[in-house]
Amino acid sequence: MKKGLFITFEGADGCGKTTQLNLLKDYLENNGYEVVLTREPGGKGLGEKVREILLNYDGEVSNRCESFLFLADRAQNIDIIVNPAIEQGKIVLCDRHTDSSVAYQGYGRGLDINQINTLNNLATNNKKPDLTLVFDVDIETSMQRVGNEKDRMESAGKDFFNRVRNGYLELAKQEPERIKVVDSTKSIQEVQKDVLEIIKTKLN
Ligand code: TYD
Repeated sequence: MKKGLFITFEGADGCGKTTQLNLLKDYLENNGYEVVLTREPGGKGLGEKVREILLNYDGEVSNRCESFLFLADRAQNIDIIVNPAIEQGKIVLCDRHTDSSVAYQGYGRGLDINQINTLNNLATNNKKPDLTLVFDVDIETSMQRVGNEKDRMESAGKDFFNRVRNGYLELAKQEPERIKVVDSTKSIQEVQKDVLEIIKTKLN
């Protein structure tokens, strides 16, 4: 049986990671791999309900409450979707994961990063991605891609997104083995080529 792989896709809103995730899924399936797609927030079932609150609730949400909702969804995603698939030798592609909490709630909202790391470890039961791709794009491009229809998180403003972006770049410096930065200002095809080059080093 093939060895399971857990790959996470990260980056600021509008970075193009979801497009690349779907392209990679097609590539892997065409090459005989079994792939499971999931996302945070909102893999499936209960996760979808948590996602609905996180993105559309229009009352006041405290920063800490927001963090815990993302973490609750993460625990569910790991237990119900990610771990079972990895055990069956599948490749799991996950749209956002622990680094989103560090980048958005830590660097973006200013919550204590050590605490977020501790809580992330609790939520994932210490499961770590085998590989994380950070799709890096300047704020002007990402805002343009997001457009005018913004959800609750996307309405946080330019300074916030600059902090998020820099947070991701900082994380990549701290964990260069796991986290690879992909220049996402390039065309979809060029970015895909870069992604495949990285992925091929992890396939068996
Ligand atoms: P989504 O519509 O999935 O955005 P994208 O397509 O950019 O991934 O919305 C997820 C939003 O939630 C996004 O703005 C990032 C944010 N988020 C956090 O702030 N913390 C987290 O831990 C996670 C998983 C997401």
